[in-house]
Amino acid sequence: MNFTVLTIFPELIQPFFFHGIIGKAIENSILSASTMDIRDFAKGKHRVTDDRPYGGGCGMVMKPEPLAGAIRAAKEKTPQSSVIHLTPQGRPFSQKVARELAVLDGMILVCGRYEGVDERVCQGLIDDEISIGDYVLTGGELAALVVIEAVARLVPGALGGDQSAEKDTFEDGLIEHAHYTRPDEFEGDKVPGVLLSGNHAEIEKWRLESSLKRTFLKRPDLFKEKKLSKQEKEILEKWREQIRQIIERG
Ligand code: ADE
Repeated sequence: MNFTVLTIFPELIQPFFFHGIIGKAIENSILSASTMDIRDFAKGKHRVTDDRPYGGGCGMVMKPEPLAGAIRAAKEKTPQSSVIHLTPQGRPFSQKVARELAVLDGMILVCGRYEGVDERVCQGLIDDEISIGDYVLTGGELAALVVIEAVARLVPGALGGDQSAEKDTFEDGLIEHAHYTRPDEFEGDKVPGVLLSGNHAEIEKWRLESSLKRTFLKRPDLFKEKKLSKQEKEILEKWREQIRQIIERG
């Protein structure tokens, strides 16, 4: 998977390619990543990338020529890549969308600035538009990094040996189970005994129950989309019975 980020602030993006899981995956040639400075495609001494909006109004609009030049140059380097514009008007980003993007050959991430991008570029050269949430950032750079981070870890091999994205929160429609590490007692609070038992079947059962509990308490909305397994139904029915008894004892 190749990531190319088109931005007027490449220095904001580049450090990200040298650290953590993404840095390792790039080192191991599982991912490749680079930036292109949109300003390099702007004409004139001042290499201007924005201009006043036709029709008046406040704010500035990204000029079409530098952006189109940058997109075409990136496409020439990685012709199979999809061109993705980061904008609050895009489709909402989620783990599901990240999984969908993780199978692409590459992504050319277009970071707008100012009030927005000239509509002719959006219409002609963009394959997809993504928003990372219903709030407005001053540019697409942080959104591009969010998308890269979420997608990169789903590319096979990117997480390395013993790590896996399959158990992540949202992957099976649930929040992930609680995690513990040493010491086994912290400020009087003990790690649940089952996790020290070495009984893998029991540990898996505990983890599933923990996932269901956390989803029920923190993100009950996720159940609307979730298809429950037989084991998940059994756990929920056990709780229903326990809750019924509590109410009846009332
Ligand atoms: N650019 C500005 N705000 C954004 C958002 N919420 N998502 C993606 N790109 C953006």
